[in-house]
Amino acid sequence: MSETNDQPVAQIESVQKVYQKGNAPPVYALRGVDVSIPRGQYVAIMGPSGSGKSTLMNILGCLDRPTTGRYLLAGSDVAQMNDTELSRIRGEHIGFVFQAFNLIAERTVLENVEVPLFYQGVSKAKRRSRAGVAIDRVGLADRANHRPSELSGGQQQRVAIARALVTDPTVLMADEPTGNLDTETGEAILKMFDDLHRDGMTIIMVTHDDSIADRCQRVVRLRDGQIGSDTVNRIELD
Ligand SMILES: Nc1ncnc2c1ncn2[C@@H]1O[C@H](COP(=O)(O)OP(=O)(O)OP(=O)(O)O)[C@@H](O)[C@H]1O
Ligand SMILES: [Mg+2]
Repeated sequence: MSETNDQPVAQIESVQKVYQKGNAPPVYALRGVDVSIPRGQYVAIMGPSGSGKSTLMNILGCLDRPTTGRYLLAGSDVAQMNDTELSRIRGEHIGFVFQAFNLIAERTVLENVEVPLFYQGVSKAKRRSRAGVAIDRVGLADRANHRPSELSGGQQQRVAIARALVTDPTVLMADEPTGNLDTETGEAILKMFDDLHRDGMTIIMVTHDDSIADRCQRVVRLRDGQIGSDTVNRIELD
């Protein structure tokens, strides 16, 4: 195995996040967090409301920077990057799936999946073909020209997964991806995550649900902006 593959995909060191607006008292959302995520790991982030899960995900997903501390993503120090560099590295390495799908209502399935490639300056022909492959992968080829409102919730989330995968990201991040779905539909989405993990994808998922966390290899629990516990469910040998 090469040295690059041994390197953690994401490494957070002594990260603090303080929200400070005007004269309001500062909010210490993360208070010295260390997490290192190896390539291919499937990680659940849990913890009570307000414990800092979304704040941590926003930092891991390069939507926000730590106030202090280091964040190495695929070997690059993200903590010091400006907004342009941050969005470039985000586009290159991160795929996002949100609880509320976050699709563009006026655009077709195909156009929605093309969006991240558009921001990377990929040509129209390549966008079309790569989006087509991603849509096929989530089993929605026959829906490519439909709009999100014409799809079920589970199908919309599959479009969001195709959009997250179309750039071939290093890490797939999901914040409560089954939160808006019924149990059966949610199960189909989780099965898709299981398959992606089996194919080698690194996945970080926020969940409130113990049965979902049980499917992951590792569970990181936050408590008041710190790591309360960090446990490995199982080690998979291949
Ligand atoms: N933009 C912000 N400005 C000020 N405070 C914030 C901001 N975002 C989050 N916070 C605060 O930081 C703390 C952590 O919030 P965060 O959203 O990370 O929690 P969470 O664990 O995701 O909660 P939930 O389960 O409810 O989504 C909370 O006290 C919250 O009020
Ligand atoms: Mg949250």
